[in-house]
Amino acid sequence: MASSRGTFSNKFGFIAAAAGSAVGLGNIWKFPFEVGNGGGSAFLIVYLLFCFVLCYPILVTEIAIGRKSQKSAPLAFKPLGHPKWSIIGILGVFCAVIILSFYNIVAGWVLGYFVEMLLGNFEIGNHFNEYVNDIAEVGGYTIAFLLATAYIVSQGVTKGIEKFSKILMPLLIVIILLLTIYALTLDSAMEGITFYLVPDFSKLNLNVIYRALGQSFFSLSLGLGALMTYGSYLSKKENIVSAGAIITIVDVGIAFLAGLMIFPFVFSQGIEPEGGAGLIFMTMPGIFQTMGPTLGAIIGSLFFLLLSFAALTSTISLLELPVAYMVDKHKIKRKNAVWYSSAIILLLGIPSMLGNGYSEFFTNFITYVGAEKPVNFMDFVTDIASNTLLPFGGLMVSIFAIYAWKRVNLFEELSQGNAKFPNTFLAKYIGFSLKYIAPPVLGTIFIITVLEIFFGVKII
Ligand code: PHE
Repeated sequence: MASSRGTFSNKFGFIAAAAGSAVGLGNIWKFPFEVGNGGGSAFLIVYLLFCFVLCYPILVTEIAIGRKSQKSAPLAFKPLGHPKWSIIGILGVFCAVIILSFYNIVAGWVLGYFVEMLLGNFEIGNHFNEYVNDIAEVGGYTIAFLLATAYIVSQGVTKGIEKFSKILMPLLIVIILLLTIYALTLDSAMEGITFYLVPDFSKLNLNVIYRALGQSFFSLSLGLGALMTYGSYLSKKENIVSAGAIITIVDVGIAFLAGLMIFPFVFSQGIEPEGGAGLIFMTMPGIFQTMGPTLGAIIGSLFFLLLSFAALTSTISLLELPVAYMVDKHKIKRKNAVWYSSAIILLLGIPSMLGNGYSEFFTNFITYVGAEKPVNFMDFVTDIASNTLLPFGGLMVSIFAIYAWKRVNLFEELSQGNAKFPNTFLAKYIGFSLKYIAPPVLGTIFIITVLEIFFGVKII
């Protein structure tokens, strides 16, 4: 059975790996700047609602589909008797490749910042825009990062990631906690906290909802089958419902904490919260500088090093998608599948790398109909893959679970390792959300935003 494909050693191993996939740049790099762009608290509230009401039930369903079928995402639907639905999985592999193409680049910046902090170069925060356009340097770090991911995935997932996730994730949480405490002692802490936590619904609009939804899927590694693939390595003895709850709470908790840490810092540095993708890169070095040269270099380099590891456990789960697909479907050797996918991902990343000012064409890549400003290539692929296709994948998973696979079969799988499940509150909650909340909400947002953002047709 699963043994030939490798299994996680126990529930903790699975949770560590899945939480390792979920927790990454999405929490500490992307979440804060999306909150900053989305007007602060308004974004946060919508995001939290999406995570718990919509995403958690879908997350549990993805893991169940993977474990039941014992297959990676695109092949998971056939053993359940619904081969046509494989398209969801194929779309997921496509999303993973696209996401990885830009994720790697940001991970490269993080790795570069680790070195800069080690050297005590706190000034780099003021030169972020020049830094990302030093293509030779940034490109080198990107390649280094991709090679590390490729090496671990070529060794087989279960062995590779468990080890990392178990030790380094708790350490990352500790350092963020310490930094949050430091942030709260700063003079401008209140300003940051007000921006982040005091509800201001005047900032709420369709774009905020659209981005908060995309962020919730992106952060939980949802909607592309990453957790299906991990679920396929999970033993029948384990309780998916509780593991899923832990993964969701850890992921959302770390993002929330990252916000609590960053906004006091942002305001104390006099940086605009709408700073975009550079937000943490512009803010954090100045903070480390206030700690003095030695302590600043230690804490600063540790922060970016741990963030690199958090990114690594996420890139591993992303690269695993095309690799597991090639191995399972086309019987390509794992090592070869890893190198083919990595090469494609690297090439696809080039426009994103050049789109931060280096190339005018990729920097002002596209102006959506009716929009004021053009977006760069990285934002464009983020909109396509993570903000649009991931929630669409989630929509398909919920429809699949209720109308094709059927609730009884889903519940039967969720009862493995959790015999009392069908009579619990969570069972009602999951069943209700998958049927009555996910399809209408995701479907409506998908249609409205695709029409408005990509075609300029305003419905509301
Ligand atoms: N969830 C990861 C993060 O927050 C990114 C990711 C998305 C990983 C989709 C796997 C699949 O950084």
